[in-house]
Amino acid sequence: MNDLYSDAYAHALDAADVLPSLRGEFLLPRHGDGVQAYFCGNSLGLQPRAARAHVEEVLDKWAGEAVEGHFTGQTQWMTYHGLVREQLAGVVGALPSEVVAMNSLTANLHLMMASFYRPAGERNAILVEAGSFPSDRYAVASQLHFHGLSPTQALIEVEADEAGGTVSMAAIERAIAQHAPRLALVLWPGVQYRTGQAFDVAAIARMAHAAGAVAGFDLAHAAGNLPLGLHDSGADFAVWCHYKYMNAGPGAVAGCFVHERHARTDRPRFAGWWGHDQATRFRMGPEFVPSPGADGWQLSNPPILGLAPLRASLEQFSRAGMDALRAKSERLTGYLEALIDAGLRDTLQVITPRDPAGRGCQLSLRVVGGRDRGRALFDHLGREGIVGDWREPDVIRISPAPLYNTHADVLRFAGAVARWASAEA
Ligand SMILES: Cc1ncc(COP(=O)(O)O)c(C=O)c1O
Repeated sequence: MNDLYSDAYAHALDAADVLPSLRGEFLLPRHGDGVQAYFCGNSLGLQPRAARAHVEEVLDKWAGEAVEGHFTGQTQWMTYHGLVREQLAGVVGALPSEVVAMNSLTANLHLMMASFYRPAGERNAILVEAGSFPSDRYAVASQLHFHGLSPTQALIEVEADEAGGTVSMAAIERAIAQHAPRLALVLWPGVQYRTGQAFDVAAIARMAHAAGAVAGFDLAHAAGNLPLGLHDSGADFAVWCHYKYMNAGPGAVAGCFVHERHARTDRPRFAGWWGHDQATRFRMGPEFVPSPGADGWQLSNPPILGLAPLRASLEQFSRAGMDALRAKSERLTGYLEALIDAGLRDTLQVITPRDPAGRGCQLSLRVVGGRDRGRALFDHLGREGIVGDWREPDVIRISPAPLYNTHADVLRFAGAVARWASAEA
């Protein structure tokens, strides 16, 4: 085994890191006398220490002011969702008026499809990736049923055409071109949850538009992971959650993007009072007048306690900057890949694209030898305080997050796999 595997090498990489480590600003789960090597930011990001103060601030305001809390001070609840707008727009590369924090991911996906999936005659199909996240598949199928259609008639699923289950841009292009006259909506992930493959959102939006379809994106695994440039991408809409790389806590309030060109759309929408034009909302009139921009899709007054941790998280993203985070992410994930190539090829096969441009933080690692060996390794890692996650039948996902992971964490993972494999032999 070579130098890559030495503690000194990993520590030198950490010491040379130009991004000041924000690791100290997170609560790292304990393991024995130390802390976990936590690689599950693709599922639930760690808690920023500052989250507690933001939540307590809301609790205190509620205790001390009750209903008046809606109207007093900088953090009044009437405009609280606006406190995250600018920074959120910065993370996803959008105009502030194009983003809103509201609801949950799947709820937002439905709201977006209510407006942007408008089947008309022959143009009634939705194109997705085969093996999409189940909630997306259920949402899409139920939208088809809602319009009197069925997945058999109107769902086009693009199969993976590359080894390891990734999809080439050529396959996406072919599928869009082949079905162009039928396509009402192309709904694609920013990063595929199982393989970790990242897609060129702008290129897919262009292809969808050229075919006459709407382009929507599920960015659950992309937000806070990759710089997205959503406005310039031309995407019509996007939805994402804030509990993964965005570290805003379990079930955190989600995100939604609606491109500026739809700011005053007369497409139908499912409306609620919080989407009504702010200036006249409290006249309590019977006619809905939408707020311009993404705000106009809000339904309810937002869960303030759910939004509070997002403020802490966004403040960190703003300080670090997406470009610096991405650069560090490429270094961490590249180191993980190099360690696997140098010493773990008999145990782990990387199914995520090798080109850094084709992935984010996550590497999806197929365990050589199949499910039983994979589960044994995964359980071993758990006992060692190394936390990734498991995807049936034989994949371990490891996602070094640049806000809190280090090269030393990555080495701890690789070293544990190497020792396990040699003890097995
Ligand atoms: C790709 C993707 N889509 C949708 C969802 C569902 O999210 P929610 O439960 O927040 O609606 C998830 C959750 O992990 C996901 O990873």
